[in-house]
Amino acid sequence: MHPLFTLEGRKDPHPIYKRLRAEEPAVQILEPYRKVPFWLLTRYTDCSDMLRDPRFGKDFTKLPPEERNRLRMSGEFEVLGKHMLSADPPDHSRLRSLVAKAFTPQIVEGLRGRISTIAENLVSDAVARDASGMDLVSQFSYPLPVTVIAELLGVPASDQDDFRRWTTTLFTPADTDEQLAHLRATGFEFFQYFMALIERRRAEPRDDLVSGLVAAEEGGDRLSTQELVGMLFLLLVAGHETTVNLITNGMLALMDHPEERERLVADPSLLESAVEEMLRYCGPVETTTYRFALEDVEIGGVTIRKNELVLASLLSADRDESRFPDADRFDVGRKPNKHIAFGYGIHFCLGAPLARLEAVIAVETLLRRLPRMKLAVPRGDLEPSSMLLLLHAKKRLPVQF
Ligand code: HEM
Repeated sequence: MHPLFTLEGRKDPHPIYKRLRAEEPAVQILEPYRKVPFWLLTRYTDCSDMLRDPRFGKDFTKLPPEERNRLRMSGEFEVLGKHMLSADPPDHSRLRSLVAKAFTPQIVEGLRGRISTIAENLVSDAVARDASGMDLVSQFSYPLPVTVIAELLGVPASDQDDFRRWTTTLFTPADTDEQLAHLRATGFEFFQYFMALIERRRAEPRDDLVSGLVAAEEGGDRLSTQELVGMLFLLLVAGHETTVNLITNGMLALMDHPEERERLVADPSLLESAVEEMLRYCGPVETTTYRFALEDVEIGGVTIRKNELVLASLLSADRDESRFPDADRFDVGRKPNKHIAFGYGIHFCLGAPLARLEAVIAVETLLRRLPRMKLAVPRGDLEPSSMLLLLHAKKRLPVQF
C-alpha cells in the first residue's frame, strides 16, 4: 500500500508529498480499496496544467463499458452521478450556468448577516452546554456550513442527521461486498430523499434553490430529472465536507502557530488573507476528483495513456517550494497567494465565494468569543476523518476554552 494511504500518511501527508515533488512528480499508484491504478501529480505547474487541459475528461460515460468496469467507474452512484463535476463541455457549461447566478460574490454577500447569526448562536449553544470546551467539528464547523447550504437549497434543517450519516458513508472506503452494498443503499436513500423533495416543491414552490431548479427542469430541455437530482446531491455534498474542514483545519493551524494567531487578533484586517493562507497551507480538499486522459498526454515527465486515470494533489501543489517562497511557513499575511485549493480550470469551485465568507465569519467569531481556545488532546491523537485521499480533515477537534 502506498504510504499516502496509511494512517500516518492520512494524518500528515506533507513529508510524503515533499519527497514525491522532488523525486517522482508524476507517479502511478494503486488505490488500495478498489485496486484501481491512477496517476498522481504533485507539482503546482503539472496540477494546474492538467486541470485546464481539455485532453483530460470527467464524463466517464464516454469510456467504453469494459473500460468503465475495469476502472470500477460505474455502479453505486449512477443515480446521483450526473452533475456538472462529472460532465465535459457543452453539458458542463449548461449545468453550471443554471446555478452560477446563486453563488456570485454579490449574492453570497447578502447572506453575511444570516451566517453571522448562525455562528453566534452555535458558540452560545456550545458554551451553554459546557462552559469548558467542545468538539469544534460537531458543534461548530459542521453545523455552520450545513445549515447555510440547507437553507439556501430549501432542505429542512431537521434532516441534517440523515445527511451526516449519508455523507460519512460516501467518504468511507468500500471494498467488501457488504460495504459496497451499503454504499449502494445509501445512494438510493439519497436519491429517494431528493425525489420526494422535488415532488413537494413541484406541488408548492417556495423561494429557494430547489424550487428554482424544478422550474428550470419543467422549462423543458434545460435540465433532466436525473440532472436535477445530481445537482442537488453535488451541492449538498460539496457544501458538507469542505467548508467544515476549512474551518477546523484553519483553527488548528492558528492553535499550532500562536504568534500568527496573535498577529491576526491584533490586526483583523488580515482575516481575508488568513483564510487564503488556511486554504493554501491546510486546504480541506487534498486531491481533485478523477479525470481520465482522452488521448495520450505527456505531463510531469511521463506519458499518461488514453483512458488512464489522473488526480492532482492540490494540497501538495500549494506547498510547492518553487511556487511559494517558504512554502511550509504559515503566514496569515501572505501575498501573493495564488493557491489552487478550490481547483483550477472549468471545474473551479462554484462555492468558493460562499466558502470564503463562511470561513471569514467563523474564524472571526471564534477568535472573538473564545479567545482562550486551545487543543484539549495531544496533537498526535487527532484522527483523520477519512482514509480516502480526497479529504484532508480531522474527525474531531476537542478544544478547551
Ligand atoms: C472550503 C471549501 C471548499 C473547497 C476547498 C472546495 C473545493 C473544490 C474543488 C477543489 C473543486 C474541483 C474538484 C475537481 O476539479 O475535481 C470544487 C468543485 C465544486 N465545488 Fe467546491 N469547495 C468548497 C466548498 C464548496 C461549497 C460550499 C459549495 C456549494 C455550495 C461547492 C460547490 C462546488 C461545485 C458545484 C463544484 C463543481 C464545479 C464544476 O464542476 O464546475 N464547494 N470545489
